[in-house]
Amino acid sequence: MTQMVPDKRNALLWQGTGPVSDSVAAEDFRASMRKLACGVVVVTTLTDGRPWGVTLSSVSSFSADPARISLSVGKNTATAQFIVEQEKFGVAILSAEDEALARSLAAPGQPKFIPDEQLDRPSAELGVPVIAQALYNLECRVAYIVEAIDHLLVIADVITARIGAGATGVGPLTFYDSTFGSFTAAHSKGNLT
Ligand SMILES: Cc1cc2nc3c(=O)[nH]c(=O)nc-3n(C[C@H](O)[C@H](O)[C@H](O)COP(=O)(O)O)c2cc1C
Repeated sequence: MTQMVPDKRNALLWQGTGPVSDSVAAEDFRASMRKLACGVVVVTTLTDGRPWGVTLSSVSSFSADPARISLSVGKNTATAQFIVEQEKFGVAILSAEDEALARSLAAPGQPKFIPDEQLDRPSAELGVPVIAQALYNLECRVAYIVEAIDHLLVIADVITARIGAGATGVGPLTFYDSTFGSFTAAHSKGNLT
């Protein structure tokens, strides 16, 4: 059988034509995406050995076996450069008590050094920065990077997943309608697995 993806460094199977002329107007697109409720993470890397983080909502569970996540990050950001260079990063899944941190690490064009008081010891396997009050901290090693216009789509293996000190608190930080919030369970008819 032909191997579908023979080379990790040449894994793009199909390339579209780039931006199309009949896509929805930018403001309608933004209005629709504002209604998509998201969890919030900080992706952590190092720059000259100093912990650096950026607030993202584009992180998703990509596949369970192998354990992989995906995210998209602006191609021209420092964070994108660090991910490409280091081929590893941390993902801190934030708690509702981490809103101030999420805001500070989302400011466009500002340095995104993670304040010392927010840090735990670096992770054991990959040595990426760990956010002390997160719900969970993941260590991730890059598996694929797809360059798509002005963003990178990053797919990464999850090497470890450790519960954080924030897990005993108020639940996840959410982002909906351009506003940070927290999660409230709907009238429950049982959990999905
Ligand atoms: C809730 C929230 C979610 C965000 N999600 C993303 C994302 O998924 N990808 C991304 O590139 N930027 C995202 N941003 C913007 C980044 O936090 C950051 O402002 C942007 O990358 C600019 O960084 P720079 O200062 O390195 O240019 C998000 C911002 C907020 C407040």
